[in-house]
Amino acid sequence: MYLLPGGPRRAAMGRAPSGAGRIYWAKPIRPRFRSRATKQSRDKARAGRPAGPRGRAPERLRLDDQLELRPAGLADPMGSVLDLHCHLLAAVDDGPADPASGLALVTELRRQGVESAVTTPHLLSPRFAADGLEAMIADAWLRLQEQAATVGLRVFLGSENHCSGQLDPEAFAQAARPLGDGPCVLVELPDDHLPGRAWASCFAVVRRGRRPVLAHPERCRGLRGDDDGLAAFITSGGLLQITAGHVAGMHGWAMRWRSRRLLARFPHACVLASDAHDLCARRPAWDKLPAKFHRWICPDLTSLTTWRGGDDALVP
Ligand SMILES: [Fe+2]
Repeated sequence: MYLLPGGPRRAAMGRAPSGAGRIYWAKPIRPRFRSRATKQSRDKARAGRPAGPRGRAPERLRLDDQLELRPAGLADPMGSVLDLHCHLLAAVDDGPADPASGLALVTELRRQGVESAVTTPHLLSPRFAADGLEAMIADAWLRLQEQAATVGLRVFLGSENHCSGQLDPEAFAQAARPLGDGPCVLVELPDDHLPGRAWASCFAVVRRGRRPVLAHPERCRGLRGDDDGLAAFITSGGLLQITAGHVAGMHGWAMRWRSRRLLARFPHACVLASDAHDLCARRPAWDKLPAKFHRWICPDLTSLTTWRGGDDALVP
């Protein structure tokens, strides 16, 4: 530090905060460019110090963390994949509009690495008429089996059983159709509230020796802040089906955060599915799923019966 003005060595004046004619302490001129030898010696001196702003440079983020949304399926094979919640029946409720769209959807699922899928048309839902539903499902199911065979996809028939709370819990448990021939039952709750008899209906399913699987709980506003209810449901053997597209962020940041929060909060009770309806807004997103979430992919329907989620707890 040198005193201005004048002095035995050349100095540059520092920034004057205000006024004129005052004397300020100023920084000496430093060379703008450093030689390579100087930089190397500085790095060598810093190497032994702890990481920090004045010491060794902190480690950079791994590429996996920076590029989380890379197509995981290309670099990290997912192994066997069961899609336990998707809508593949053409011209039934809000699934594919026609057989050609249905074929395109099963082809896309197979391309993304899905080996077996349970098609889950809506059941007991007030949004879709129940008249003639079973006949439509039977027709579409036959067609789907033929289409799936052409692309090498194993398909099972299940349903997404809507729990509005209007049915008696025992009647709901009796009417609900399981996933394939297994004991698991997919239960859908309304998006905007938690029906008064929702948990009673789920426990009625448990009492019948079946395992309830809550469809996309991250969408249900009534479940937000009800961690105690979810914990009781899980303790009784229930599972949470998280939608892969939500985890990948394809439906907004809020849904991405809610789905990942459930994975972190209940890692041993979560399982992923696509809830695919078409190839547009609700397309399957297995190819967008980051590799660190592969542990929540169930390989087959048999494993779902005793599914315990990922190997270890993980906070995404
Ligand atoms: Fe669904």
